[in-house]
Amino acid sequence: MQRSATPKLTRLRVQVYDVTDYVDFHPGADAILRRAGDDSTAGFYGPQHPPTTRDLIDEYYIGELATDKG
Ligand code: HEM
Repeated sequence: MQRSATPKLTRLRVQVYDVTDYVDFHPGADAILRRAGDDSTAGFYGPQHPPTTRDLIDEYYIGELATDKG
């Protein structure tokens, strides 16, 4: 897959990650892009991901969505 300049954002609950630099290395290939810009929570915590994936994603954390709850 060709890397593009468009940022690839993904989201787990209210936490947002810029995974632009990771998509080319994803062992699940384009699956990560199916949810780009959307909520990946259910898929991310699926059985295809080893527990170490939860540490890996910390590197790509960029912030939290604003919520009404303050
Ligand atoms: C920053 C780290 C990662 C993120 C954000 C991520 C995200 C995702 C997402 C969103 C999906 C789609 C789930 C769905 O069907 O809704 C997926 C699928 C998958 N991921 Fe990851 N992933 C990461 C790391 C990894 C790692 C480390 C592995 C393996 C060691 C892996 C293996 C897979 C596999 C095998 C699939 C299924 C592919 C398919 O359905 O065709 N991922 N991942």
